[in-house]
Amino acid sequence: MSVASIFETMEYGPAPESKEMAEKWLKDRKPNLKQFINGKWVAPKSKKYMVSNNPCSQKKLASVPLSNKADVNDAVNAADKALSGWVKLGGHGRARYLYAIARQIQKHSRLFAVLESLDNGKPVRETRDIDIPLVARHFYHHAGWAQLQSEKLPEYKEIGVVGQIIPWNFPMLMLSWKIAPALAMGNTVVLKPAEFTSLTALLFAEICEQVGLPDGVVNIITGDGATGAEMVNHPKIGKIAFTGSTEVGKIIRRATADTEKKISLELGGKSPFVVFEDADLDSVVEGVVDAIWFNQGQVCCAGSRLLVQESIAEKLYKKIRSRMEKLRIGNALDKGIDIGAIVAPVQLKTIEDLVQKGVEEGAELWQPSWECPSDGCFYPPTLFTNVAPASLIAQEEIFGPVLVAMSFRTPEEAVMLANNTRYGLAASIWTENINLALDIAPKIKAGTMWINCTNMFDAASGFGGYRESGFGREGGIEGLYEYVKLKVEEEFKPEQKQKEVAEKASAQKNGLPTIDKTAKFYVGGKQQRPDGGYMQNVLDTKGNVIGQVGEGNRKDIRNAVEAAHAASKWANATAHNRAQVLYYLAENLEARADEFAERISSALNQSTRKSMQEVEASIERIFIYAAFADKYDSHVHATPYRNVTLAMKEPLGVMGIVCPNEAPLLGFISAVIPAIAMGNTVVAIPSETAPLLATDLYQVLETSDVPGGVINIITGNKDELSKVLANHDDVDGLWYFGSKEGSTKVQFAAAENMKRTWVNFGRNRDWFNPKHVTPEYFLRHATQIKNIWVPYGE
Ligand code: NAI
Ligand code: MG
Repeated sequence: MSVASIFETMEYGPAPESKEMAEKWLKDRKPNLKQFINGKWVAPKSKKYMVSNNPCSQKKLASVPLSNKADVNDAVNAADKALSGWVKLGGHGRARYLYAIARQIQKHSRLFAVLESLDNGKPVRETRDIDIPLVARHFYHHAGWAQLQSEKLPEYKEIGVVGQIIPWNFPMLMLSWKIAPALAMGNTVVLKPAEFTSLTALLFAEICEQVGLPDGVVNIITGDGATGAEMVNHPKIGKIAFTGSTEVGKIIRRATADTEKKISLELGGKSPFVVFEDADLDSVVEGVVDAIWFNQGQVCCAGSRLLVQESIAEKLYKKIRSRMEKLRIGNALDKGIDIGAIVAPVQLKTIEDLVQKGVEEGAELWQPSWECPSDGCFYPPTLFTNVAPASLIAQEEIFGPVLVAMSFRTPEEAVMLANNTRYGLAASIWTENINLALDIAPKIKAGTMWINCTNMFDAASGFGGYRESGFGREGGIEGLYEYVKLKVEEEFKPEQKQKEVAEKASAQKNGLPTIDKTAKFYVGGKQQRPDGGYMQNVLDTKGNVIGQVGEGNRKDIRNAVEAAHAASKWANATAHNRAQVLYYLAENLEARADEFAERISSALNQSTRKSMQEVEASIERIFIYAAFADKYDSHVHATPYRNVTLAMKEPLGVMGIVCPNEAPLLGFISAVIPAIAMGNTVVAIPSETAPLLATDLYQVLETSDVPGGVINIITGNKDELSKVLANHDDVDGLWYFGSKEGSTKVQFAAAENMKRTWVNFGRNRDWFNPKHVTPEYFLRHATQIKNIWVPYGE
């Protein structure tokens, strides 16, 4: 091509990044890569290997260990052995290592960027400018958290050995999101990268070696889903952090349901990209490119559903099409390309199949006129218009460069469409009207909200989802809590006696009652009879019948959940307003303190003086949460861009709360009040041993102006009712204070819709001991953080 003709056509020439260093790195490690266990490079006990390819050429890059159970076991034991030393090192010591890792990553950033691009197929421009700088930033930021741990999280300690399983779309970035907070908080790690992209994780292990990280603190094993499953099932692992498909997320939830392993799951998405008619359309077009063609659309939070206001829809589609025509696809190491290769043929096939379904469903397909290179795993940028909201391509995560567009007329309709998904990871909102943007942002159910921007990430801001996008956050202070546990938890004891009483009570269900009191349910602010018409006896601790309560069933729970939903306005009441209602509640409980004390005495056969202490403690606890209602406030994260990142604490929505058997009144109050203080509405299952303490509250709730439906109370068999709550699609979070078996059932059942659960595994806190009921801990479980990114300036 002559200079004159280049000048004429303005065609881009290739601008290849050198792969020499990366190829040398691979050559030096032939024939097989090893894994990093206990500070040593070891061949897999399985003696098996898998191949990692370059998606742009389909050629083999390396062979990588395919580890088995024995390898996983070695890695976990190494991490376990390293734990006490790593904890003892203290925050400052750990900060120094994290800082050293960050420095080394920066020094080797070019090698990381090229190796990542070769192994994954993503443009080197992205790995060089986005992935690897963010990786370094993550380690720097968490070096800071290690240093500040004792200052900022004094009540918490490390969990222990954590198992981390990551996907192939952002191999190094996901590694840093997992390893940095884990190490900062004093945990040791076994991490498994995804089978398609193990290389940079092994390079990272070399960095750990270079900085002299103590043996066993970080172990990197490679392998496939079966290797991951061995990690999930290993008894010495205290926490599993996973990023990947919703399908595997559910498998992990179920596999760990009968254990006390903590889990955090960052799963799929179908994130809306909402464009209002007053948006700056040229910025929108570039936003769309970043939302769905960044990383070939293989991004969990990709803006894959374009929702456009009808008046500008055609105009915007036209602009997008002409921009698509100019996108450049090709070898990932070419610095001038926009779109690289899809990670593997299997993923390409998934994309092709889903696109085919879209065509069959009658949506209108548009792709640029140019052809993709034929020697790698390439797929062209694709736009579907005329898409029905319920169609497969509008609902399923495609995980490829495919955008589906729909239009809306009003902001309300935009919100409805945006929330018409089982996921809730992220959303972006485009409008020049800040009032509109900030009105819409809280209404869309997703963990991250980008206003006039998209796919912005930073270590200081938590990332994670709602609903089937999983739970837990990565980044920011909110992310640290995933890697710690309350120190005081170790004091919680199994309480045998209460359990026996409960068993006795249920055994006597059909005995002949001497009825003292019959309590109905409380639903939507009204007393209601049980649907099944069954009552059960309530016994005191000596086995005497002291009353009857309704025996709730599935239908009763459904009615209560409906009532709780109908009361969702409670979330929009001002915090001051909610506080006032709670103070009033405390006041009215005080007015009837004698009556409640007597009731407790008759249920527990104890002195009135002792019972009065429980009533007084309950009143004080209501005061505590009334106080916190307008003080557990949100903050602004210091992300390094020209924007305000609002970390908004939001209520979960409708919560199921299964109250403890110990301390029948105080337990109920301590669990239910923090939830409503934050704006949740609640379906509560009171103590099985003394449910009358909860049912006696009806009148107090009524006289205290607690709006109908904010607290709903259904009595009955705790474990049966909690299973119904766990299965219910419209319950957003579930707390369960009860038996080990009950906890297991709740966690297992909740896997279906991935709701957040908090269970106690049969270990009871002392509800009178303020240290066991740290308000901050309860409030955190009653809220989730939504990070709203609001850019400013030009
Ligand atoms: P995947 O969920 O199967 O793999 C993610 C990681 O989990 C890998 O390290 C894999 O080895 C491991 N794994 C697989 N099965 C496991 C098990 N039973 N127990 C423990 N670990 C297990 O995802 P895959 O098959 O690579 O991609 C399939 C789809 O998942 C994609 O098309 C996309 O829709 C979604 N996905 C979402 C990601 C996200 O960032 N949220 C990332 C990757 C995939
Ligand atoms: Mg590869």
